[in-house]
Amino acid sequence: MHIDIQFVPSPPNPNLLSNRVVVVIDVLRATSVMAHAMSQGALEIIPVATVEEAFQMAKVFPRGSIILGGERESKNIPGFDLGNSPTEFVAERVRGKKLILTTTNGTKAFQLVSSGREILAGSFFNIGATAQKCLELNKDLFIFPSGDKGDFSLEDTVCGGMLIDLITKKGEKPISLTDASRCAQILYQRFEDNLLEAFHLSRHGKELINRGFGDDLVYCAQIDITPFVPIFREGVVKVSS
Ligand code: MLT
Repeated sequence: MHIDIQFVPSPPNPNLLSNRVVVVIDVLRATSVMAHAMSQGALEIIPVATVEEAFQMAKVFPRGSIILGGERESKNIPGFDLGNSPTEFVAERVRGKKLILTTTNGTKAFQLVSSGREILAGSFFNIGATAQKCLELNKDLFIFPSGDKGDFSLEDTVCGGMLIDLITKKGEKPISLTDASRCAQILYQRFEDNLLEAFHLSRHGKELINRGFGDDLVYCAQIDITPFVPIFREGVVKVSS
């Protein structure tokens, strides 16, 4: 298995996606929300790029079957049912529902990698299960941290580095890493005993604290709280099977 990671969320070269498993990562907070919502019984998640698209999409489904969630500038969106804190996506709100989610970086990242062979949503919540799934799929891997408004994001790259670390330690077959992958692994090893430190150093982590979402940093730093690996196929995120 060959593992690559792209540090900046610009549209990837299509050759890097074809026949590869892609793992999209947005620890703070979109892919954490996805894993959490699935673990709480959400049926599926439809990631959309804009707020307008979310409202239009909601009209297509029967009333009461849909939950609108997401953020802009980390803040809740007027008219939406939920924001983008994982703790809002609990069974009482999401069980048996379809979620329509729009976020600044995370939901857009899925559109950018949609030509990948299998597209998974990774976060610290499901990192062990994601590593296991990648090993089972046994294809070359392309990790896509969704970044911070087009820029590098510390927390997503640390999470990508943890995925690489787990796969290289668990894998029985030879694994080759690009220099970028090795760099992400080394970055993770710098923070492995204190993921929160990485969150606190990151631009987006600081923004969330300033906006009153400091508790989300603590919550999103939890490792392996769910075995669910959301998988994106034909525009919809479901639980992997
Ligand atoms: C995003 O997709 O940009 C994030 O999830 C933003 C956030 O939750 O604040």
